[in-house]
Amino acid sequence: MNPNLLTGPATRPLVPGSVYGEGAGRGRREWSPGRSKLADHVAAGGELPVERDSGVLYLGAGSGTTLSHVSDLVDEGVVYGVDKAYRPLKTLLRRLSGRENVVPVLADGRNPRNYAGKVELVDLIYQDVAQRDQAGIASRNAEAYLAEGGHLLLMVKSRAEDVTEEPEEVFDRAAARLADFEVAEVNVLKRYPDHACVVGRYRP
Ligand SMILES: C[S@@+](CC[C@H](N)C(=O)[O-])C[C@H]1O[C@@H](n2cnc3c(N)ncnc32)[C@H](O)[C@@H]1O
Repeated sequence: MNPNLLTGPATRPLVPGSVYGEGAGRGRREWSPGRSKLADHVAAGGELPVERDSGVLYLGAGSGTTLSHVSDLVDEGVVYGVDKAYRPLKTLLRRLSGRENVVPVLADGRNPRNYAGKVELVDLIYQDVAQRDQAGIASRNAEAYLAEGGHLLLMVKSRAEDVTEEPEEVFDRAAARLADFEVAEVNVLKRYPDHACVVGRYRP
């Protein structure tokens, strides 16, 4: 268990103070499942395979809400935050300046070559991009940057793939497309019924 993950859930802050308006103080930052899909996954008892010294590739960093908690968890590691949009990344930069373990990357995650030389081999890929071909994007990034035996946490948004299909069918198909992964869990999120967190282990 990562000692920076506190019950609630909450994380032990790497840098004191609130990042995006969440409750903070007394050595903890609240990590509300209502504001972060990853917190919802964790609150439901989902696997969070991240050590203090892990390297994490975070695809779909957005404005850094969830990424700030990942940064707390890997206080001796690094988190590469990739987003294709400049505006959220600008907010992330403002919110997370002073965190030396965060490396923001402005790039399209569909083509991992875009950030070759900026990102090194990692232990975990966390992906939350809410666009089509989510399993394909994860697989290509794993091939480029994920260590063998490393983990993937893939937030699949069913409506981003197909609005007409039942979410469960979309989740199952995405999991089945992760050919190089042993899929350990498909956790349909309680507060985000359109989303599931697929947990996989990389066995290429
Ligand atoms: C749901 S938001 C991310 C929220 C964030 N993960 C959090 O929990 O705080 C999805 C983000 O993915 C980004 N995105 C979508 N397609 C992308 C792509 N192909 N490459 C990189 N980022 C992408 C969007 O710009 C957006 O900021």
